[in-house]
Amino acid sequence: MDKFVIEGGHRLEGTVEVSGSKNAALPILAASLLTDKKCVIKGVPPLSDVNTIANILRGLGVSVTRRSNGDIETQVKDESQCRAPYELVSTMRASVCVLGPLLAKRHRAEVSLPGGCVIGIRPIDLHLKGFKSLGATVDIEHGYVTARATRLRGTEMFLGGSFGSTVTGTANVLMAAALAEGRTVIENSACEPEVQDLCEFLLKMGANIKGVGTHRLVIEGAAKLGGAEHKVIPDRIEAGTLMVAAAITQGDVTIEGCRPDHLGAVIDKLSEIGVAVAKEPSRCRVMGPQKLRPTQMTTLPYPGFPTDMQAQLMTLLSLAEGISVVSEKVYPDRFMHVAELNRMGADIRKEGATAIVHGVDRLSGTTVMASDLRASAALVLAGLAAKGTTQLTRVYHVDRGYEKLEKKLESLGARIERQVDKRLVVLGEGPPARGRRAKRRP
Ligand code: UD1
Repeated sequence: MDKFVIEGGHRLEGTVEVSGSKNAALPILAASLLTDKKCVIKGVPPLSDVNTIANILRGLGVSVTRRSNGDIETQVKDESQCRAPYELVSTMRASVCVLGPLLAKRHRAEVSLPGGCVIGIRPIDLHLKGFKSLGATVDIEHGYVTARATRLRGTEMFLGGSFGSTVTGTANVLMAAALAEGRTVIENSACEPEVQDLCEFLLKMGANIKGVGTHRLVIEGAAKLGGAEHKVIPDRIEAGTLMVAAAITQGDVTIEGCRPDHLGAVIDKLSEIGVAVAKEPSRCRVMGPQKLRPTQMTTLPYPGFPTDMQAQLMTLLSLAEGISVVSEKVYPDRFMHVAELNRMGADIRKEGATAIVHGVDRLSGTTVMASDLRASAALVLAGLAAKGTTQLTRVYHVDRGYEKLEKKLESLGARIERQVDKRLVVLGEGPPARGRRAKRRP
């Protein structure tokens, strides 16, 4: 497994370009199941999660190719398969967003339940509630969800649970409703920019959707959808992470190609902490202050502060002058980074779904372990600011959601190096495959 070796204490300076949004690209790629026409999706970052959804789509009879200019082209060739297997779904929860399109287009979907996740239980009950409201029969057997419907029928539904709206759930039900008979009203739909982007793609395919960007989507089902060409929105979480990288190194960084209007809550918090952010329609200049002020922060569905930026902001607050309070209202168990940050000298105490962050003068480098995507990003940020060297293991978590993060940071002046694990076979992980070199001891 690769690791990052980061020598902290280097100020970041310069300009960096943000990639396309992974979380927007995944459901948009899944939506290509809704048509037998060609779709072209631009700006899709080359990440392992994108490869996972591409492989699931291939297994479902879709030709998925990346052109030399980076665009992804999809076209359904065979509609006989309806099953997304555990082996792929278990590596990425968002795979579940093929359920809606399969059900609507092929009238049957069998998708493995994604299983546990370090950031919380993450049920899909609201997705299933939505499909049932549309008239589908839904069963859970042998670890798979099986949904069937000869024709989905539009209806009114309330899609909310104890933690508010659901992003992937809204995407799933929206895609199913796009081919249902009649009008569907989704009350309490998620309005995250990624859901809006999916709506834009579906509109280009010929869907009829009103209320884009609100908590009430009204969909008039179409008999058929066509192909479409679409560029995904910039990744707001990557942009936010790079903003914190600038702030935590007292740097001066311009983030090109981002959408500051998607980052309102993040920019507002950074400003409160003392970070100077100059906004333009598609770029942000971020200047880190010498002293960071503490704050109180609660994660909420959009346009509230995104849970996907909680860990990164906590790293920044661990160096503020005073006590900050961070409450997690979307994933109450999403605090895996706390113990690792404390190992680097932070002083953070978790109480239920809240973390009390006592700011310290400095962090110090050590070996830390990535546990999930955003927690890993938080540890990279900590490493940039820490005294000495930080080694971050299991960076495959980072690779799931950040395109060449180390290269981007390095271009801004960070000292960060990826050490590639060249071991081909780790002892105890099964027999060597044909043609591989002999085992090397770890
Ligand atoms: C998406 C994002 C993820 C982000 C999250 C919240 C993708 C691929 N992932 O995940 O990065 O952290 O939104 O912004 O876009 N819930 C239920 N029942 C359900 C579905 C969700 O109770 O059927 C709960 C979840 O446990 C969680 C909350 O609702 O507490 C929000 O989850 P949801 O919006 O569905 O997250 P994802 O779409 O999985």
